[in-house]
Amino acid sequence: MRISVIGCGYLGAVHAAAMAELGHEVVGIDVDPGKIAALTRGEAPFFEPGLPELLQSHVATGRLRFSTDMAEAAGSTVHFIAVGTPQVRGGTAADLTFVDSAIDSLLPYTNPGDVIAGKSTVPVGTATRLAEKMGDSGAVIAWNPEFLREGWAVKDSLTPDRLVFGLPPEPADAATADAALREAYAPVLALDTPLIVTDFATAELVKVSANAFLATKISFINAMAEIAEVTGADVVQLAEAIGHDDRIGKRFLGAGVGFGGGCLPKDIRAFTARAEELGRGESVMFLKEVDAINLRRRQRVVDHVVDALEGEPHDKVVAVLGLAFKPHSDDVRDSPALDVAVRLKGLGADVRVTDPAAIENARARHPQLDYRESFEDTVRDAEVVVLVTEWDEYRHLDPSEVLPLVARPNIVDARNSFDPAQWRAAGWTYRGLGRR
Ligand code: UGA
Repeated sequence: MRISVIGCGYLGAVHAAAMAELGHEVVGIDVDPGKIAALTRGEAPFFEPGLPELLQSHVATGRLRFSTDMAEAAGSTVHFIAVGTPQVRGGTAADLTFVDSAIDSLLPYTNPGDVIAGKSTVPVGTATRLAEKMGDSGAVIAWNPEFLREGWAVKDSLTPDRLVFGLPPEPADAATADAALREAYAPVLALDTPLIVTDFATAELVKVSANAFLATKISFINAMAEIAEVTGADVVQLAEAIGHDDRIGKRFLGAGVGFGGGCLPKDIRAFTARAEELGRGESVMFLKEVDAINLRRRQRVVDHVVDALEGEPHDKVVAVLGLAFKPHSDDVRDSPALDVAVRLKGLGADVRVTDPAAIENARARHPQLDYRESFEDTVRDAEVVVLVTEWDEYRHLDPSEVLPLVARPNIVDARNSFDPAQWRAAGWTYRGLGRR
């Protein structure tokens, strides 16, 4: 099948490569010439395990191409829209400028019967609005939300845990979109991947409600961490104990500095804004609390550091381990780690930061921080070490090997990744979040 993917960011570049891996002939299109040049060389413009290998093999065979020219989309049967929907400046709603301009510039190159499949996360009602905008072009729109996680994006794209097709109301259009999407995903469906075929609104809502649920689960356990902090309970043991109940489950009960990234934070805010527009703000009012709990955890980490410095952070050397919003990613969008580093810098601390993958992205946003390539350079002479992004290389640190490097043995474990007993036994003052 000939497929185009419009937007080659964290979502689109992986989707294009995955579609080529599934056997299709794919062109990825993006307005950013630098990104397209890198992809054309078979290089991933961002850190995503497994992506460079896929790109190299399919760019080499010519099955996967990249271009800045929308005319290259002509001749494809399915056009996936994978552009970003960031938070609007000065508000909480989603900015749909990129989605609208992708459709506007794509339409002249579509043929009647082509299927435009939206993958971007959008407010409910967007597909219906776009269908009206497409008028009598003869192309059909469907919504096919994406659930991939950064860091696991290749695996999530090739073996997703479910597929959702949101089809148009007219039966003939629905049949066209359904057939095209089934053909595009044939190898995935052959693996018995669950498929939910539904309407536009449900498909759009599946995506935002999934992210809202995940965010709520994290903020739930972080709220328990706040209670644990005033009662002497231990939130890690609490999470383990409630997680044994299958109805609750252990995953996404990791208490710590909270969630960040380009998806969860902006998606819950955009959902709230859309619900308010629909006159149902009260239905998702709790998401404002989810957001507030999440942001409070960042300040809690800063407070721990200030405590460790006896209230005097000025000019004190603080080592921050991690900048990406989570391990296995170089993404610093709404990163709790970067936020914590910037807040500490704002208090006058001599903040030294490092990350295995995200230094360049962080530097572009916050050039004022002191970036160090090596772990040793970062922690040397530190009065406090803060673990904020739980990369494996930090999780497996040996506290007795780090001890001789630092000025004072203070560790703040903002991801509850360490064994407090092991660090204390090695002579450190350990502070976790919601832990004894
Ligand atoms: C999230 C969803 O998990 C994907 O299903 C979805 O497709 C994606 O958003 C999207 O909308 O595109 P992602 O942003 O890559 O994926 O990251 P997650 O793995 O969900 O982690 C989000 C944040 O939650 C990270 O900052 C992570 O550190 C934090 N987190 C996660 C916790 O604080 N505690 C946990 O127990 C788990």
